[in-house]
Amino acid sequence: MRTIAVIGLKGGSGKTTIATHMALGGHIRGLTTLLADVDPQGSAREVLRARGGEGPEVVDATGSHLLSAQMTAVNAGVQLMVIDTAAGAVEEVGQAIVLADLSLLVVRPTLLDLAAMVRTVEVVRRLKKAALVVVNQAAPARDGVEPPMVKRALRALEFMRLPVAPVIIRSRAVYQTALETGRSAEEAWDDTAAEEMGELWTFIERFALGPREIPAAMAAER
Ligand SMILES: Nc1ncnc2c1ncn2[C@@H]1O[C@H](COP(=O)(O)OP(=O)(O)O)[C@@H](O)[C@H]1O
Ligand SMILES: [Mg+2]
Repeated sequence: MRTIAVIGLKGGSGKTTIATHMALGGHIRGLTTLLADVDPQGSAREVLRARGGEGPEVVDATGSHLLSAQMTAVNAGVQLMVIDTAAGAVEEVGQAIVLADLSLLVVRPTLLDLAAMVRTVEVVRRLKKAALVVVNQAAPARDGVEPPMVKRALRALEFMRLPVAPVIIRSRAVYQTALETGRSAEEAWDDTAAEEMGELWTFIERFALGPREIPAAMAAER
């Protein structure tokens, strides 16, 4: 089983949007997928419930229930577990990072968001865990040229020396409307969004499966 945590100490960056899309992406591709919701607000749970039973399993993993949820998932043959975390819940975010193979740091391309991310980066570094930045809610590129704000954000991210996903998720209404009915943008009418999110999913899967920092002996066990 692979576990991906979606983190970011800032609210509204798009953690739940990315987490539900990662879980739905796994489900669409035929993986047994579980979404563990660590956010007491339960937005991810609500989104997936809107599918009416067909879709990834969802568990409430608030408090200290994350490890037991993960053990149960392994025993149940779950192949992909996605953890959605809450903004500001430093302790639970720490647990999620510890238990995940990969943490996705979801960030909007604004200086305020990037500044708030530094703290999260610190935690990931201290825990020596693999992380990948996902830039979300970016203005669209025109003729392949990134808007100045996105360019500036990418430059700021270089300072943090963290890998950044090459697929940038743009601000699109379909990410809001699709989730209202529990659908991924990959299942919606908007081909551009479907392609963008599909590419991000594939990149993350490869990145999460890659050898990265997993020692050889452990990698052989998996
Ligand atoms: N790429 C995007 N394009 C348009 N709206 C988005 C996008 N990502 C997130 N949103 C919207 O921004 C708001 C916050 O997103 P959410 O995923 O709930 O953030 P978080 O879980 O980090 O608080 C929601 O209304 C969501 O629909
Ligand atoms: Mg959320």
